[in-house]
Amino acid sequence: MLIDTHAHLDSAEFKADIENVISRSLAAGVIAIVTVGTDLESSRQAVMLAQQHPSVYAAVGIHPHEAAQANPDHLTALLRLSQHEKVVAIGEIGLDFYRNLSPTEVQKEIFIAQLELAQRARKPVIIHDRQAHRETMSILRERAKDLRGVLHCFSGDLEMAQQAAKLGFSISVAGPVTFQNARGLQALVRELPLEDLMIETDCPYLAPHPYRGQRNEPAYVRFIATRIAALKAVPFEHVAQVTTENAKRVFSLP
Ligand code: NI
Repeated sequence: MLIDTHAHLDSAEFKADIENVISRSLAAGVIAIVTVGTDLESSRQAVMLAQQHPSVYAAVGIHPHEAAQANPDHLTALLRLSQHEKVVAIGEIGLDFYRNLSPTEVQKEIFIAQLELAQRARKPVIIHDRQAHRETMSILRERAKDLRGVLHCFSGDLEMAQQAAKLGFSISVAGPVTFQNARGLQALVRELPLEDLMIETDCPYLAPHPYRGQRNEPAYVRFIATRIAALKAVPFEHVAQVTTENAKRVFSLP
């Protein structure tokens, strides 16, 4: 049993064979997939996919790249959308100072507005943080006191991971943990208790070894669990069980 806690099933890459992608994930032991919105339109798509497929759940939110296009009406629509029974989180939301596709101040404003929205909706949050570790942590410390959630595709250091865990956030590990040169991330995975970890594909991006560079899909989440098991020298089944329980708890999955 595995849960892919971060996928983008609404992507054009999946349009033609979404049914096959979901069948292969079920065959690989993936009992649930959280497909994540990046703006209002993809959030609506995520909810539609979740409605059509029992193993698919949705997160709705505005990604920092899209923050500049967001307006108050979008936030009102997201709050309404968040009440759908298959919406399990607000996300992905956060800060991206690597690509900076939206101005920094606008990213912060939309991030904070969606943390407030999550509080009102009583949902956990899925956080995107790229090269914005200090600002992300300071906003979470000040604004996310009553929130649970997950830092997706984690790229910070061990100290940040431990601080986030103390705040009630899980650390989600994606394909890069399987790459030869990911020494820092692998060391972090060895140190962090499994109880703080979740696994994800972030598909169609970031395919794990041995599919690096190809289209990623939820069935490949097992390569991430396998690598974590090797790093921690524990059985695969143990990693699968604990990360599945963590995801079920945070997202209130059945
Ligand atoms: Ni994503």
